[in-house]
Amino acid sequence: MKYTLLNSSTAAKATDCLVIGVWTKGKLTAPVGSLDEALAGELRRVVATGDISGKIGDTLYVHPSSSKAKRVLLVGCGDESALEARSYRKAVNAAIKALFKTNAKDAVMTLAELPIKDRDGAWALSMLVQECESSTYQYDQTKSKKKPAYALKSVACSAPKGANRASMNEALKAGLAIANGMNTAKELGNLPGNVCTPTYLASTATKLAAKHKTLTTKILNEKQMKKLGMGSLLSVSAGSKEEAKLIVIEYKGSSKTTSKPYVLVGKGITFDTGGISLKPGGAMDEMKFDMCGAASVLGTMTAVAQMGLQINVVAVIAAAENMPSSTATKPGDVVTSMSGQTIEILNTDAEGRLVLCDALTYVERFKPKTVIDIATLTGAAVATFGDQTSALLSPNQAFADELLGISQDTLDLAWQLPLWDEYQSLLESNFADIANIGGPRAGTITAACFLQRFTKKYTWAHLDIAGTAWLSGAQKGATGRPVPLLVEYLRRQKA
Ligand code: BES
Ligand code: MN
Ligand code: ZN
Repeated sequence: MKYTLLNSSTAAKATDCLVIGVWTKGKLTAPVGSLDEALAGELRRVVATGDISGKIGDTLYVHPSSSKAKRVLLVGCGDESALEARSYRKAVNAAIKALFKTNAKDAVMTLAELPIKDRDGAWALSMLVQECESSTYQYDQTKSKKKPAYALKSVACSAPKGANRASMNEALKAGLAIANGMNTAKELGNLPGNVCTPTYLASTATKLAAKHKTLTTKILNEKQMKKLGMGSLLSVSAGSKEEAKLIVIEYKGSSKTTSKPYVLVGKGITFDTGGISLKPGGAMDEMKFDMCGAASVLGTMTAVAQMGLQINVVAVIAAAENMPSSTATKPGDVVTSMSGQTIEILNTDAEGRLVLCDALTYVERFKPKTVIDIATLTGAAVATFGDQTSALLSPNQAFADELLGISQDTLDLAWQLPLWDEYQSLLESNFADIANIGGPRAGTITAACFLQRFTKKYTWAHLDIAGTAWLSGAQKGATGRPVPLLVEYLRRQKA
């Protein structure tokens, strides 16, 4: 979809659909001031009927008798001067869903003009574009009948009076880049495990790099990983005929050649059966989503390259398939990680940390400014936070606070769990330096405690996205999260 920033008054624009907010108590939102009197009067009469309550997300179509707009979509925006960021997002979503139901090919959106608590016009516009564009995503790659594209092809957005046009244009571009990143992540996440293998993820990375001069990739195969001593990562792919891959993507946006990179590490288990510690059958299909950390990293790199951020970023994806077989790793096996630490694998279903720990040791070579790993790591994170909130753990409170703040700003929600040393003893092993599970309690914390032992050389945070990366039930599908959080974090960094 095409997005533009309007500079003329909305009333002057001919459009298939003009989108305007309505406050509770039946008052049209401010942008109506720029409408011609005839249309404004007609809309006021419609609102006065009470058919649109102004409740957040309510919608009503009006077909005005004479106007440059063929349709007007009224959208409930709640109480005037009390519009919360979350409610704004909800209203935008309702508007776009309503637009997709019609044959409108273009629309003028005035919602970014609304006053939102603790947010500015740039935020409103960025969120509007992000929500519209990410809503255009439809999965059909493995369906024989392709879904028809939505009729809507272009959206013109108005800006609040006096907004800085340069920053509004940048916000528009950022919103679009974030949405493209999310849609990239959704598509990879949704692809079945027999299509999206570690090799497929590797070729996706290579193809992405071919599109941007700023990106380069390096793919390590099992032989190369063995040479590096990645015994932990390789223990996960041991039972699969799909070869594990370590995918390294480097983005160079900084003109300073010595600028240290920000590093992202993604869990890329393209299917998690549990291995010999086989999972129960119910909903096991959803373990194709166990590479959503990797997908979010690829989505973020897509957005970073598209925006041309002036920093350096390195993305590393630990990709493997976790299968049971005669060559699979068994409970009780002891493996040696790249760091030299030995690991007793008490449960082969705790495989995410096994691939991540070697990737986390590998990234030391980049002398990172910071490292964030993103992983669908524990069922305990789903039990704790459901599908709304990602778990954030970091031994560096300043870094955790920075990410928590951004999660509030972007509404890509995350919340912190403690990573105190008191939990480390749960990982003790009689036969190795460390066990790969910490028992049935505090599962998200002990998983992060495990990773922490491999991240001592840099500033690190861990995002457990087991609950947020995809939805179950009728809406089953990848969400593209936490691409907004990651992209916004990178946007705010300096070379
Ligand atoms: N990929 C799963 C985590 C998961 C489970 C994500 C359900 C989303 C929904 C991970 O590899 C796993 O199996 N974790 C185990 C760890 C346990 C064996 C210590 C878990 O959480 O049960
Ligand atoms: Mn598992
Ligand atoms: Zn897993």
